[in-house]
This record gives sequence, C-alpha cells and structure tokens, in this order.
Amino acid sequence: MKIFLLTRICSVSNILFCVILSLTGSVSQAEDSPAGASDDAFSQCRRLGRGVNVLGYDPIWESNSKAHFKLEHFKIIREGGFKTLRVNLYPYRHMGDAPEFRLSDSWWRTTDWVVSNALSAGLNVILDLHEYEAHGKDAEGNRDRLLAFWRQVSPHFKNAPSGVFFEILNEPNGKMTPRLWNQNLAEALAIIRADNSSRDVIVGPALWNSVDHLEELKLPDQDRNLIVTVHYYKPMAFTHQGASWAAAYKDKVGVEWKGTLQEQSEITSDFQKVQAWSKQNNRPILLGEFGAYDKGDIASRVRYTYWVAQTAERLGWSWAYWQFDSDFMVYDISKNQWYEPIYRALIPQGGDSQANSK
Ligand code: BGC
Repeated sequence: MKIFLLTRICSVSNILFCVILSLTGSVSQAEDSPAGASDDAFSQCRRLGRGVNVLGYDPIWESNSKAHFKLEHFKIIREGGFKTLRVNLYPYRHMGDAPEFRLSDSWWRTTDWVVSNALSAGLNVILDLHEYEAHGKDAEGNRDRLLAFWRQVSPHFKNAPSGVFFEILNEPNGKMTPRLWNQNLAEALAIIRADNSSRDVIVGPALWNSVDHLEELKLPDQDRNLIVTVHYYKPMAFTHQGASWAAAYKDKVGVEWKGTLQEQSEITSDFQKVQAWSKQNNRPILLGEFGAYDKGDIASRVRYTYWVAQTAERLGWSWAYWQFDSDFMVYDISKNQWYEPIYRALIPQGGDSQANSK
C-alpha cells in the first residue's frame, strides 16, 4: 500500500520517481547500476533471463477496482523463478488529441504502479508498446502517435534504473512494412536517445517479429544498447489451433506436437539461423513471445513449451512466455496458483525462494 500511494504521487515528476524508487529500496533489489550507466547489451539481455508477458488485456487499465493483476502477483512471479515482466501496453486509447497526444493521468498512475512494484519485487520491466494492430492497419496515420508516446515515456523514465527497458513496437506487420518500420524505429530511437542515451531498447524485425525477417531489420550501427527480439509460434497450425483471431487455423483442432526429432530440429534450425544473425551483427536476442494456445492438448503444449524455452536458453537468449494469465496462461488468477503443467515446462526446477534476498 505504501508503494501504491507513493507511486500515485510519483507520476507528478521524474524527481519524485527517483526519490520513491530509493525509498522503497527498489534500486538495490533490482540489482541495479546507476541510471544511465552503460551496461553491455549482452549482459543486460542475460539479466532479463526468464520473463513473462503481463497486463495486455487486464481491465486494470479501465479501473483499479476491476484489476485481475494484483500487488501480490509481483512477488509471486519473482519467487516463481521469473526475472522480467514484459508489460504489454495499449496507450492509444488513453491519449488526448494531436499534436501532443497527451497520456492520461490515470494511465500514468497504473504504469508507474507497475514499474515501481516490479522493481521493488526484484523484477526487470520491459515497457512494450503493444499497438501493433493500429500500425498494421494504418502505419502512416499512427506514426505521430508512436513518436508522441516515446516523447512522453522516455523523459518520464530517464532516471529510472537500468532494469527498465523500452520496446519500441510489438510485432510490426501489415501496412508497417519493413521499409516503413526501419524509418519509424529510427525516428523513435532518436527521440528515446535524447533522454536515455544508454538505456537498453528492444526492437525486432517487421512481419510479426518473425525469425525469418531479421535480414530486413536496419539498426543504427553506432547504437550498441539495443537488444533484438523475435517471436516464435511455429508451427502455427499447432500453436494457434482453434484461435479465433488466426483465420487459417481457427477451425482445425487436434494437432499434436509430439517432440519427434523432425519437430525438434525445425525449431532448433530456425533458432540457429537467428543465432548466426546475432553473431554476425553482434546483437543479443530476446525471445519476447512464444507459447501454444489452450485448444491444443496439454501434453503437446508442455513438450513444445519446454523445447522452445530450453533451446532458447541453450543459445544464451532470454525469453518471455506468452502469457501470465487469461489464455495461454501459466498462472491461474481465479485459483491463485501456477498452472503447473506449463509452469513446470518453463521453470523445471521450480521457484526461487531466495528471490528477494539477493
Ligand atoms: C497478441 C495476443 C495473441 C498472441 C498470440 C500477442 O502478440 O497481443 O493477442 O494472443 O500474440 O497470438
């Protein structure tokens, strides 16, 4: 409660934000270096470790009283063995008019509450702009919103510890072609760098952060504080079976993933291709989303989830599972417990009771 009240005030200014983080002890608990210090992007990426996507579809953004995600979940996630929250943000519905596109006070209150409590629990936070549908439909029309978002968010967190990461845009797709994406990301990055010269920024390729389109991604060579993200849902016929939003796969269920050598090596070879790109371009990799929708049988989903997470770890990547609650869930909020099959596939050795005593 103390943190919650403090963070409400904290949205007023950056200075207060810093004071509050130190009052709550979050700087030391988040294993932090001073704000703005230049950490090697590879070690920053390793530090992300095992993560989980949260809050994208939580009614908390409409009203605190409707929140599914509660204060206790920060600690549960950290003690469960995760190190990072990838917070899926839909800020456009909380913005005022052009040209400022001012983010509402209530959006800031919730965002500050998430960031300060995550840091206090010893978790890193990725602020992921998840407005991929808006940009997919109208990339040109939404460019100013994207830039206005980072123009407000970047200065607000300029003194935040380096456990706070920015992700420019989730899954650019559709009208956000590789060419437009390369332009938009460079513009957003320039805005971010005005206040956060060395904060680690996460950016992935167009065409849904696909492992097959890294070659089209153009990053400013001199910026070495970038982490490259890919998402992995192949084979879609398995991971998106029965999913209403995936037209090609929504009507066909009963697809298994048996973990045959052939199935395993399809994933391994996709990941090795990414690894080769990573080495050649000297950029670390975050697997920012993966998982299999819950219309597939659970034995297949466990095998698949385990294999993807373990393959990523063997290559030294960090990852974030899609997603904490709701569909694909690893935690059942209604029962207040981990959904064991998926949880064990992700964190085979179980939670970390020392999570808060490092
Ligand atoms: C989307 C979700 C979707 C998931 C898997 C995410 O990026 O935000 O709506 O369930 O991908 O398709």
